[in-house]
Amino acid sequence: MNLDTSGYSRGMSLLAILCLLLQLIFELSSCTHLRVIPGSTLELPCLMFQQEVSGDAITWKFNGKDIKEPVRVSKDGFHLKISPVTPANQGEYMCLVKDENTELINMYNITVVASVGYTIKAIQGKNVHLPCHFPSTSQVNSNALWIKEANEALNTEDENNKKIELLYPLDHDQTILLREVALEDAGVYHCESAEKEKLSTIYLIVEVAPTPEPHSCSNFTTPWEPCLDENSRTAEPILQESTTEFSMKLFSYLRESYPFNNLLFSPISISATLSHLLLGARDNTRKSIERAMCVPHNFHCVHFQMKKLREKLSSSLQMASQIYFNPLMNLSESFIDQSIQFYDAEPTRLLENSEENTAMINSWVANKTKNKITHLVDSISSNTQLMLLNAVSFSGQWKVKLDLKQKKGQFVKLNGDIVRVSVLYHSKYLATMEHVVELKAQVARFALSGDSSLYIILPRHNKLEDLRYVEQRMTDTAVRQMIQLMKTASPQHVEVTLPQIKLDVQPDMNVLMKKLGLSSLYEGANLCGLYSEDKVFLDDARHRALLELTEKGVEAGSVTSLTFSRSFPSFSALRPFILLLWSDQGNVPLFIGRVIDPLERK
Ligand SMILES: *[C@@H]1O[C@H](CO)[C@@H](O)[C@H](O)[C@H]1NC(C)=O
Ligand SMILES: *[C@@H]1O[C@H](CO)[C@@H](O)[C@H](O)[C@H]1NC(C)=O
Ligand SMILES: *[C@@H]1O[C@H](CO)[C@@H](O)[C@H](O)[C@H]1NC(C)=O
Ligand SMILES: *[C@@H]1O[C@H](CO)[C@@H](O)[C@H](O)[C@H]1NC(C)=O
Repeated sequence: MNLDTSGYSRGMSLLAILCLLLQLIFELSSCTHLRVIPGSTLELPCLMFQQEVSGDAITWKFNGKDIKEPVRVSKDGFHLKISPVTPANQGEYMCLVKDENTELINMYNITVVASVGYTIKAIQGKNVHLPCHFPSTSQVNSNALWIKEANEALNTEDENNKKIELLYPLDHDQTILLREVALEDAGVYHCESAEKEKLSTIYLIVEVAPTPEPHSCSNFTTPWEPCLDENSRTAEPILQESTTEFSMKLFSYLRESYPFNNLLFSPISISATLSHLLLGARDNTRKSIERAMCVPHNFHCVHFQMKKLREKLSSSLQMASQIYFNPLMNLSESFIDQSIQFYDAEPTRLLENSEENTAMINSWVANKTKNKITHLVDSISSNTQLMLLNAVSFSGQWKVKLDLKQKKGQFVKLNGDIVRVSVLYHSKYLATMEHVVELKAQVARFALSGDSSLYIILPRHNKLEDLRYVEQRMTDTAVRQMIQLMKTASPQHVEVTLPQIKLDVQPDMNVLMKKLGLSSLYEGANLCGLYSEDKVFLDDARHRALLELTEKGVEAGSVTSLTFSRSFPSFSALRPFILLLWSDQGNVPLFIGRVIDPLERK
């Protein structure tokens, strides 16, 4: 494999000028950073443009030491050639040019990346993922280029291309999915950035498919295994921990997919939907859902614990599940029974036509969300076999009421723009407020009725990097530690200012499902526990979440609260923040969100 550097020479004359400028101010730092893979050939040009310099005037240095070996420097002395590249070649290369007219220094910082070569074996006719990732530190401004063999550029950005799909456009993960690989798809694939940085190389081997076995549920039609120890002390924490881990994983996917918008989702609703599906999933589909939900494989009590959790949350969060199915499907009896037992959902037949079904489903959603969400689907295709729904409705009142200020507040966005918002205010709110060192954030906890709390997490400064820092640190462990800290800290009187927000967000659940490693559901799921006659395919996934901060009944009296004393600390969320709605009873997150612009609608 050859790393062609001729492209660099042209493309980087600008950088060369930058190098010259840097040289003038004696601030020599890395000018060109290249990532290369072991086994490749690297040719570094010393000069970026034609110059009257003799080869004798050039010295190459590696990590500060002169490079003596003549083999390493090609004959004319203008290029440094390394072939094959090994991890020992990683470091700083410097080319010094010194004669009467010129004095020049050119630097390369070479990183040898060992983990980017993959050999992948695939069976003819199956789908295969070709992995590629941008370094986590870089910004993603354009998608990676995928090239087969030396020169055949693959079209990854055409949505109508059924063969190749770039799973997460403009994401750090530039993995592509090749569908139904044929023998001629075998070969070497390269993934590189627009700046021609090599990101991964994949040797794809395609093997002839064995004669396919017909879809059969013969071994998988048994019902979900009983939970033998319903009073187990460990089962409840297992589900709590899995749910929090799952929630924070979803948050990390979503914050990356929507870096500049408000964000809101209900992990508990997504988790309950997946676990309901799990009830009917068997074999590999079951394993991938368990992995996605972060629950251990063969945790038989998962449904029983879900039911317990739903009951535990019911004082503040009402959860409902529902299944609609095509009357021509024969749902398994045991699935119907267990669905009622664990999810309180009696499968309901779909009606004759799309309009009736759309109306039926939207009105179920409206009813179960107490009219907070009245619309989910636009139409129901006649091909629809099965639809799983979950709705949650949360209502919690501030333990101490807030006032709605008459005067609007100024919410300062990340770019410095000011948005005028209605403001909820209290001059002496009894709240817990801490600086959480691990998150580099100021966190306030507001107790709500129904044994739950709203946490507002304010990054240290109103800067994008600070917000990103906090978000990246919000792992399940860090969040649990934060909750623990906030629970033990004593409340104090705080002057509180919150924007009156109404979030209504509909993240792309299809992308989320793929991120969760559930792409295979779109290609055919083993739902033998639910229905044993034919394979079904996931067609669409949706999620919508809505959240409103109001003064909850306190309509007046805000004028006085303008004249406050500065003698106690204040907590003002009039700039971007992250919110976490937590059930203290169930010890799991209910809603997670981010507010960038309080007036943004969808
Ligand atoms: C070269 O890259 C390494 C690893 O990324 C980094 O630690 C080092 O500071 C870089 N050197 C320069 C001069 O940029
Ligand atoms: C079902 O199980 C039997 C024995 O456990 C095995 O021989 C058979 O191949 C299995 N059938 C399928 C379709 O997996
Ligand atoms: C559903 O089950 C019934 C009775 O078990 C059977 O007669 C019918 O053919 C099945 N329907 C389908 C679509 O397989
Ligand atoms: C939901 O439906 C039930 C049963 O039909 C009804 O009693 C209840 O009032 C409805 N709730 C809302 C918010 O519409």
